[in-house]
Amino acid sequence: MKKKITFYLNNEKVVVKCHPLKTLLKVLREDLNHTEVKNGCEQGECGACTVIIEDEDKKSFATNSCLVAIGQVEGKKIVTIKGLNKEKELHPIQKSFIDEGAVQCGFCTPGLILVTKSLLDNNPNPTDEEIKYAISGNLCRCTGYIKIFAAIKKAIKLVKKIRNSKKI
Ligand code: FES
Ligand code: FES
Repeated sequence: MKKKITFYLNNEKVVVKCHPLKTLLKVLREDLNHTEVKNGCEQGECGACTVIIEDEDKKSFATNSCLVAIGQVEGKKIVTIKGLNKEKELHPIQKSFIDEGAVQCGFCTPGLILVTKSLLDNNPNPTDEEIKYAISGNLCRCTGYIKIFAAIKKAIKLVKKIRNSKKI
């Protein structure tokens, strides 16, 4: 049976009417036309569908939207890659991915950038091992990960610099 579910998507209130077990991934793509959230495997294996979810206790975490039922996000805040740039400016993590050539076909990129955002929000000084662990659920068939890793290292410096100057 369909139910009304309310949540916040990239800071805007959204109400959808659908079966509560429909996945967040499908609702975002099919009902709300947010095709920036990519559909890779629908089994929690590739990370292409990553979004950030903010909980009631304000803790945010990156998660595979293909493994989340829409009924579970009632009242929560969801961020997709489209919600990352303020006033149409690229987020420093996006800039770093471009600067380091870490984007080829781009299918994995939204997920990797959101995972990086979540990592740096929760841990501004991750070790190399922590970075590798954070992106271990996000598959990239193109880049070989060297450039992705370099982009994340660059993003860490850039985000720190901007935070220190209190701009973000
Ligand atoms: S589509 Fe969700 S993990 Fe692959
Ligand atoms: S850039 Fe193509 S899958 Fe990662």
